[in-house]
Order: sequence, then C-alpha cells, then structure tokens
Amino acid sequence: MSRPIKGKIDRAYAKLQREREQREAERKPLIVGNVVEFCLVYLHFKPYAYQEKFLRDNNQFVLARWSRQSGKSHTIAALCLYLVLSQSHRRVVILAPSLRQSRRMIAKISFFLSGMETNFLSGRPYKTRLEFINGSSIEALPNSPETVRGITADLVLVDELSFVLNDEDLYDAVVYMLGTTNGRFIAASTPGSRDSLFYKMCTDDKKFGNFSRHHVNWKEALEPNGPLKKQILDAIRAQMVEDPWRWQREMEAEFAVDEDAYFSYALIEKCVDPRLEFWDDKDLIGVASN
Ligand SMILES: Nc1ncnc2c1ncn2[C@@H]1O[C@H](COP(=O)(O)OP(=O)(O)OP(=O)(O)O)[C@@H](O)[C@H]1O
Ligand SMILES: [Mg+2]
Repeated sequence: MSRPIKGKIDRAYAKLQREREQREAERKPLIVGNVVEFCLVYLHFKPYAYQEKFLRDNNQFVLARWSRQSGKSHTIAALCLYLVLSQSHRRVVILAPSLRQSRRMIAKISFFLSGMETNFLSGRPYKTRLEFINGSSIEALPNSPETVRGITADLVLVDELSFVLNDEDLYDAVVYMLGTTNGRFIAASTPGSRDSLFYKMCTDDKKFGNFSRHHVNWKEALEPNGPLKKQILDAIRAQMVEDPWRWQREMEAEFAVDEDAYFSYALIEKCVDPRLEFWDDKDLIGVASN
C-alpha cells in the first residue's frame, strides 16, 4: 500500500477512535463519588467544614459571603470542575469584576486539571475556555451585559460579585442564561459597599429569599479549621485599628459602613474601570491564547 494512502487510513482510524471515545465519555460520568470525595481523591485537598457545607448545598441560588483568603475561589473552582466532569454537555460560565479575574479562575481550574491522572480535556486549554471530552465546557466571560446575552448556561458562577460594576445589569443579562436549563447561580464574595446587588441578595428576603446564604468570618476560617494564620491577622488587625470598618468587611465579612472615611467605598468602587487589564510577564510567553 502506498504511503499517502496508508497515512490517510491511519488518520481516518484515529478520528473514528476519538469519536468513539467521546461517545463513551458522554454516556457516563468521567469521575466517581460525590463532590467532597472528588476534592479528596482527584484534587488532593480536604475541604474545611464550611467549604464542605457550601459544596454540598444543592440549592439553585447560593451565596458565599466569606472573609478574605478563606478559600472562596478555591471552592468555586472545585465545584465547577466537579459539575462538568460528573455530567456531560454542561456549560459553566464564570464571571468576575474583570476578565483578568475570571481568567484567573480558569487558570486555577487548569492547575487542578494538571494534577489529575487522566486528561479530561478535549484539545488545548485556553485562557478563557476549557472544553472536555464529554461535551461539557467552562468559559470565562468579561463583565459585560452585552457579551453574555445570547448564551445558555447550566451554571453561572460569579467570583467577587460585590465588586462587579453594573452588577444589576449584569445579573439581569445573566439569569436568563439559566432560563431554559433550569440551571444554578452561585456567587462568592467578600462584602463591598451596601450599594450593591450582593448586599441585596444577602439581606433582602422579599426579593432574594430563595437564595441559600453562607457566611464565614475570619474566626471560622482560622487554622486548623481554615487556611488563615492567626499571627499575621493579629498584626493586620492592629494596623486597621483606625478604620475598623475595613476589618469588618474584609475579615468579619460584614457590610460595615465607612462613615469616617473621606471618600466612601461605594464612591471609590464606582471610579474603578474593570475593563482595564494589567499586563504580566506570563501573558507574553507560551500559554495558549484565544
Ligand atoms: N481546603 C483547603 N485546603 C488547602 N488549602 C486551601 C483550602 N482552601 C483554600 N486553600 C488555600 O487558601 C488560599 C486562599 O484561597 P483562595 O484564593 O481561594 O481564597 P479567597 O477567599 O478567594 O481569597 P481572596 O479573598 O483574596 O480572593 C489559597 O492558597 C488556597 O489554595
Ligand atoms: Mg478569591
């Protein structure tokens, strides 16, 4: 048989093989066990008690109002990876105050994937999109109501919702993504100003009473029950003694009022342009980009 013909047959066979594997992958979950077992066995970390409670919450609308560095991004990255590997043809959308931040979530998920024994990705990992062999996908979108229109999703995850500019407009565009899938909306954030959708979601029982709310302060996330270290927190707290509202927001995860501040937090937030992107060296070298 001539070489070109043999090459063609080999390529056609490899394609058939890939299609067969894909059909097989779509038929059953790619992983076994529940979400907590998934973290232990596949991602090699043990969720803390408050993370486990959040991960096991199957409510359609879920909020995590947790202190700084308590593991918000870590937990929602694990949760969305569990969803796409345990069910085929699921579409997860990740949003954050800026595209740079939602891409960081994709980087975190890619890092989890790189520690797994099996490669579940179909094709290359991109900075804003991961596609899996069971037809599921995770996509990071910019914080822009116009861009998210027209997309259907099974799960919308928002990291740091309290700091999203135009949060009401974005939410209006986002919830309809879930309309035909009866999907889930999950947001995690440290509290920002009271002039925010996240504040309403956390406090307005009339409009958002169907939200399941998880509140975790620094004390609950201290070692060994969380990742926070007491020694440095004591030092930080002493530094913030003149602006107690800062500690209350960041570490107590309460919506404190900054009545003594010269410029209010809400005003400062409104002046931040989330479309501005920082450059770092990693952006310039060998990572696959869209
Ligand atoms: N269950 C866990 N086991 C081990 N390490 C954890 C666990 N949960 C979180 N961490 C680690 O704690 C650190 C903080 O986590 P993460 O960045 O997710 O926190 P965060 O609440 O999103 O922080 P920030 O408020 O700065 O956004 C990370 O290094 C993360 O890997
Ligand atoms: Mg985070």
